[in-house]
Amino acid sequence: MAPAWDPKLYTTFGDERSRPFKDLLDRVRPTVPDSEVRSVVDLGCGPGGMTVRLKDRWAGADVIGLDSSPDMLAKAAAHARDGLRFEQADISQWLAAAEPVDVLFSNAALHWIPGHLDLMPALAAAVRPGGQLAFQVPGNFDEPMHAIRKELAARAPYAEHMGGVVEPFSHDAVDYLRALQAVDAEVDAWETTYLHVLPGEDAAFTWVSGAGARATIQALPDGLREEFVAEFRERLTEAYPTTDGRAIFPFRRIFVVARP
Ligand SMILES: C[S@@+](CC[C@H](N)C(=O)[O-])C[C@H]1O[C@@H](n2cnc3c(N)ncnc32)[C@H](O)[C@@H]1O
Repeated sequence: MAPAWDPKLYTTFGDERSRPFKDLLDRVRPTVPDSEVRSVVDLGCGPGGMTVRLKDRWAGADVIGLDSSPDMLAKAAAHARDGLRFEQADISQWLAAAEPVDVLFSNAALHWIPGHLDLMPALAAAVRPGGQLAFQVPGNFDEPMHAIRKELAARAPYAEHMGGVVEPFSHDAVDYLRALQAVDAEVDAWETTYLHVLPGEDAAFTWVSGAGARATIQALPDGLREEFVAEFRERLTEAYPTTDGRAIFPFRRIFVVARP
């Protein structure tokens, strides 16, 4: 079961969340000049604010943001304009029938697809010669915010509600690199750990409840959900203590760009 999204909560800490997007976009250098890029697809586009930046860079291209969440797409619709549109689609299903594009982009989405390493050949095949594939996924699933969430969710009385819940997961950069090299792509893969400095005692909970912990929290019935949230919040406050009202929040992210 995939989570329902809250675009407003997700865009809290917008500067911090958009930084990896910008760092990834900076490394996207298709062989085709930007003025000749005709088609760009943003997989898991969310509320669409980032997709707009793709359109800003490739102004002459037909840019499409794809997402499975109606709530995210409702927000993204406000950004639609000539040459920029948003459509509901499941990434795996779209890939199965994709017409190759010049730039295939995905920021912070593929980790929600179980077994997404197996999608690497299809992702590479969905890019035209001269084009580029670029994606970023969080690589912080061992950090306290996820370790605590997983530990609590594995305990009674929460565990019995976790069947079928999508567990976000990513691989090391080298695994994506090898999977794409195996289909003869030229790959640049790297990781960056951002040290976000977030205001307020509740910052870690606000961050993770807007994204990585959504599926876990939503799987719980009323009553238990509040209990889980209270315990999770308290443990996060201990794990990310504040100094002068601000907590340091390390966030490792995995980046991949590839020329098929
Ligand atoms: C963390 S948000 C990232 C949004 C946007 N890319 C950004 O950087 O702001 C992840 C998005 O991926 C979408 N998503 C997750 N799994 C998906 C799937 N299988 N097919 C399409 N979209 C998916 C979610 O609905 C959500 O909007």
